[in-house]
Amino acid sequence: MGGRLLASSQPEPSLSDIATSAAHGEDSPYFAGWRAYDEDPYDPVTNPSGVIQMGLAENQVSFDLLEAYLREHPEAFDCGVGFRENALFQDYHGLKSFRMAMASFMETIRGGRVRFDPDRIVLTAGATAANELLTFIIANPGDALLVPTPYYPGFDRDLRWRTGVNIVPVHCGSDTGFQVAAAALQAAHDAAVSAGTRVRGVVLTNPSNPLGTTIGRAALEDILDFVSRNDHLHLISDEIYSGSVFAAPDLASVAELVDAGGRDVALAARVHVVYSLSKDLGLPGFRVGAVYSRNDAVVSAARRMSSFTLVSSQTQRALAAMLSDAAFAASYVRANRERLRERRDHVAAGLARAGLACLRGNAGLFVWVDMRPMLEEATVEGEIRLWRQVVAEAKLNVSPGSSCHCCEPGWFRVCFANMSLETLDVALRRLSRFTERRSNKRVRTELSRLAGIKLFFFLVAILLGDKIGRRRAWVWPDMA
Ligand SMILES: Cc1ncc(COP(=O)(O)O)c(C=O)c1O
Repeated sequence: MGGRLLASSQPEPSLSDIATSAAHGEDSPYFAGWRAYDEDPYDPVTNPSGVIQMGLAENQVSFDLLEAYLREHPEAFDCGVGFRENALFQDYHGLKSFRMAMASFMETIRGGRVRFDPDRIVLTAGATAANELLTFIIANPGDALLVPTPYYPGFDRDLRWRTGVNIVPVHCGSDTGFQVAAAALQAAHDAAVSAGTRVRGVVLTNPSNPLGTTIGRAALEDILDFVSRNDHLHLISDEIYSGSVFAAPDLASVAELVDAGGRDVALAARVHVVYSLSKDLGLPGFRVGAVYSRNDAVVSAARRMSSFTLVSSQTQRALAAMLSDAAFAASYVRANRERLRERRDHVAAGLARAGLACLRGNAGLFVWVDMRPMLEEATVEGEIRLWRQVVAEAKLNVSPGSSCHCCEPGWFRVCFANMSLETLDVALRRLSRFTERRSNKRVRTELSRLAGIKLFFFLVAILLGDKIGRRRAWVWPDMA
């Protein structure tokens, strides 16, 4: 034991600005809700009154398909196979066989409408690392990125914290289904530039987390025109949910649109795609992500930086075998989409029974629920109060829209793919009871308010009647 603990009278050694900054965003209710779940997790047998985690965008609906593949191909995940090569492999470019498999999987997801060159894929430990790495590459500390709201709460950490880059939120509202418009991006860009900020790019999430919707092709074309016009800007498209589009309109990837021809060739060098296997394959624990760029300088800078965030060779080897099985990949993607669609319809029906509406979604692992009618006060404070009640009374951890920087209080993200159907049904029943209790309470409050008003008028009437009576008595004493 070589270390010596500091005596309590000694001052704490100071830590770096990054280590002590709050820019990681982990103080938001998004993460507080996870803690509420961790402290009292639901279990159908051991803790049936615990908190159900609906704030985690995890995909467990297709695990059986992956497990069936593993049963048929046990060699893929056998640690003993190729042990020495895995242990000694040091090529920071990643296994060529795995990059080829990733490229082909990303093409399968996009219906073969795009070609990805395996040599332009840079592997990272998840999309978290890919987004941060691209931010480091395109912006300096103090610069800014435009990010349409509502956005994935992790962006506060991934784009801002260690890079020192700022986020300029571009607010989108329910009047347009929260779709981002090029005009809004231009206005936010111009306002930031006038305030002396250097804007370096736009970060889109397509399909969107938390909305569960794809960006329409025409809107995306407009956004590309905006980036093309403003030639100092890059466009990062986080397409982590690209394989989880389960209803029309299908995904229009920026990779497809920049390749489509008729576009400025230089634009392609400013457009970068982020992908990961955390959502479509449900493997966040494997930490596999990727940056794809047609810009040579970006690819080589990303490759150098990826040294900090590599994917283990064993993981690459195992997944290379699985993803390069084209028949398996195609049937997995098809089945997974169908299951997500069924889940989404099931949840939307359950929400409707609870008297709640949600945005019409076509992708992702969550629904964007409109709980505005339940707010006592249409403010962020009112939303957080309602969220606390949902966690404490219904024992459901959902994510309040304000943690995604939504500009309209009262929207909540509800995840549906990280639990069994039975648990989901328990959650939906709890939500129904919660809304019912709230509306009964509202009715009672309204009735007692009306009763109060009635009583008031009744008393006024008595008093007035009495006064009039007396006045009458005073004016016309003989008629009293
Ligand atoms: C839009 C988006 N980007 C990135 C991530 C992080 O993904 P990963 O687990 O691959 O780091 C998430 C996870 O929820 C996400 O929703």
